[in-house]
Amino acid sequence: MADELNIVANIPKKDKYELLIPQLDALINGETSLIANLANVAAALRQTFGFFWVGFYLVDGNELVLGPFQGDIACTRIAFGKGVCGTSWKEKQTIIVPNVDEFPGHIACSSASRSEIVIPLVSNEKVIAVLDVDSHVLNDFDTDDKDGLEKIAALLTPCFG
Ligand code: SME
Repeated sequence: MADELNIVANIPKKDKYELLIPQLDALINGETSLIANLANVAAALRQTFGFFWVGFYLVDGNELVLGPFQGDIACTRIAFGKGVCGTSWKEKQTIIVPNVDEFPGHIACSSASRSEIVIPLVSNEKVIAVLDVDSHVLNDFDTDDKDGLEKIAALLTPCFG
């Protein structure tokens, strides 16, 4: 994979995901380090879409612990079932939060975050990590994000070994 992402501005979000996914696939398949792959995917998503915060929380016992991310510093540990991330882990499904102020138990790492999407990474029917994306815009995530980010999550699960 080239060292630079091919990003096209002013095309629909769905098309941006379609352009990005094969590039991420090539990037991930050329590297065995989990940390390197998570770090590059977080960077690529932020670079492509300009999201406020993009990162991974990794399952560690009964908690999620902060992994590679792009954005401001964030809370380091989240208990099972807590916040949007812990709920996505518990329910083993993607959660779209159009307005974080209306999600009961939302954990505010930054007051600038207004909407959020969390995608669980599932291997052998177990959640091994979650991908968390925050926007400073209300209602910024839809099914195009869900579909695109779930495909990216699926690319990453083999990296966990
Ligand atoms: N808002 C998340 C916490 C993580 S930060 O957004 C980076 C949650 O409620 O789980």
